[in-house]
Amino acid sequence: MNIILLGAPGAGKGTQAEKICEYLNIPTISTGNIIRAALKSGTEMGLKAKSFMDAGKLVPDDVVIGIIKERLAENDCQNGFILDGFPRTIPQAEALDAMGVQIDKVIDIEVPDENIVARMSGRRVCEKCGASYHLEYKKPSKDGVCDLCTGALVQRKDDHPDTVLSRLKVYHEETEPLKDYYQKQGKLAIVEGQEEIADTTALVLKELEV
Ligand code: AP5
Repeated sequence: MNIILLGAPGAGKGTQAEKICEYLNIPTISTGNIIRAALKSGTEMGLKAKSFMDAGKLVPDDVVIGIIKERLAENDCQNGFILDGFPRTIPQAEALDAMGVQIDKVIDIEVPDENIVARMSGRRVCEKCGASYHLEYKKPSKDGVCDLCTGALVQRKDDHPDTVLSRLKVYHEETEPLKDYYQKQGKLAIVEGQEEIADTTALVLKELEV
């Protein structure tokens, strides 16, 4: 199954992608993670993306479309994939259609803006492997230490409240119109994000009929 996860920054796309992956055994493709990895290894693309990302703006369409084209051509995408964070603009969605990629379902996770700011300030990520935690909702076994690789847990630069507000503005202006785009294609399902991660997962899996 080819799935797109839509939703505001911090709506829980990455968290739900992990869960869907456990059920369907298909890879998650997160443009955010790919860009952060490029940044960490100091590639030209990573350096180009840094200023946009740090300011809470979108990286230019041609850069992310190029990333997705390359990634979807890899063998592990043959039996399906979950797109987390792509597309984020109408031109990105049109590029995906133009590539001939068939999308089966688009799940939009809806969370009110006021809850998003609170959630993001509690998120911590492993600086080594990128695993994501929350100070309240998804605590690591040991404070400040990643359960998976013992790396240090840090706050993402773009999770500071001011940047989160910019990201939300960009989301409403550029990404939210995608709901209408996929509604017209008959592929959109809306899931209300719940307070408990597992409750959201149950609703997502119901929409995917797995
Ligand atoms: P990206 O990394 O994709 O960030 P995002 O979409 O803003 O999404 P997040 O990863 O912040 O949130 P999420 O929805 O995955 O939430 P999560 O599950 O972590 O992109 C970063 C930047 O890269 C962009 O700003 C842009 O610059 C660039 N970029 C990436 N893709 C691009 C594209 N296609 N085009 C252009 N630029 C692009 O959850 C958040 C927190 O809440 C976690 O701590 C989690 O534990 C917690 N949580 C999750 N679910 C619940 C729940 N139900 N209850 C309570 N807490 C919960």
